[in-house]
Amino acid sequence: MDFSKAYIETEVAKRFWYHKINLGNGIITPGYDFDDVWNGIRKSRETIDYKGKRVLDIASWDGMWAFEAEKLGASFVVATDADNRNENFEFVRSVLNSSVRSYYNIPPHRLSDRLDAVIFSHSNPGLPSQPQQKEYLKLNEFDIVQHLGLLYHLRDPLLTISQARSVIKEDGYLLLETAVIIDDNQSCMYFNNNNMFGACGKLPIYDDISTWWAPTVPCLIEMVQSSLFEVNQHSIRIHKQTDHVGRASLVAKAVAPEKANPLLANELAKTYRHAGMQINIFRRYLKT
Ligand SMILES: C[S@@+](CC[C@H](N)C(=O)[O-])C[C@H]1O[C@@H](n2cnc3c(N)ncnc32)[C@H](O)[C@@H]1O
Repeated sequence: MDFSKAYIETEVAKRFWYHKINLGNGIITPGYDFDDVWNGIRKSRETIDYKGKRVLDIASWDGMWAFEAEKLGASFVVATDADNRNENFEFVRSVLNSSVRSYYNIPPHRLSDRLDAVIFSHSNPGLPSQPQQKEYLKLNEFDIVQHLGLLYHLRDPLLTISQARSVIKEDGYLLLETAVIIDDNQSCMYFNNNNMFGACGKLPIYDDISTWWAPTVPCLIEMVQSSLFEVNQHSIRIHKQTDHVGRASLVAKAVAPEKANPLLANELAKTYRHAGMQINIFRRYLKT
């Protein structure tokens, strides 16, 4: 459908926007002034080729990163969010005539079970209902998972990194961005003591009830590596916000358990001990 410029401008003006999205005709949605952080993500992202790829964008909100993935040539893009506030996303999708699919009732710690209909396509010949099938299941997993602006909002951050790993193909990529502690070089996480909410300036991360954790940069890298990923050191971008807190973005490649540290792979293969790690990652490893 073609929309008039006046109609788009009126609809844009009615809404609150998080993202700045180019709708054409010189219209850009009036999102936050986070361009420095977002340009850092775009720099990290340059290390990945999106052409023809299957992309999952978690915590999409207005959808800027999902629509950019499509623009970069991705062949299939899924946008998810836990909060069911998808009005802006749907409006942008129709203006851009985009094919991005949206599921705005999927929490980031439940990607693998809530996206199973996308991953186990009914046209997939290797369905688990065919136990006689000798070939390993060929799942329609994602080539790229975008996990942006989310980790620090989560009470259980490793759980969602495990879940992201569980829906990425081997040798696929994670594009991750989060708040980090920049004045501490130890590998540790800072806890935002939210009992103290309101003690403006005294909380260790942000004065924000929805912020829980921020790792130091070494810790962020180790968290990702310990979840069967290999971090591309050249992709890391740090943006300083205060002397203490900044934002880090990076790209990491999903490593097959066979290629990981065997002690780590054996431990993670006990999926009953590691929430979020799914048995399908280990399907070939466990057989050998
Ligand atoms: C800061 S915005 C980031 C939006 C976008 N991914 C980006 O980086 O530009 C945070 C996003 O995380 C989601 N979110 C915040 N807290 C969450 C939580 N505890 N569990 C799941 N999603 C959460 C919000 O719905 C929102 O989409």
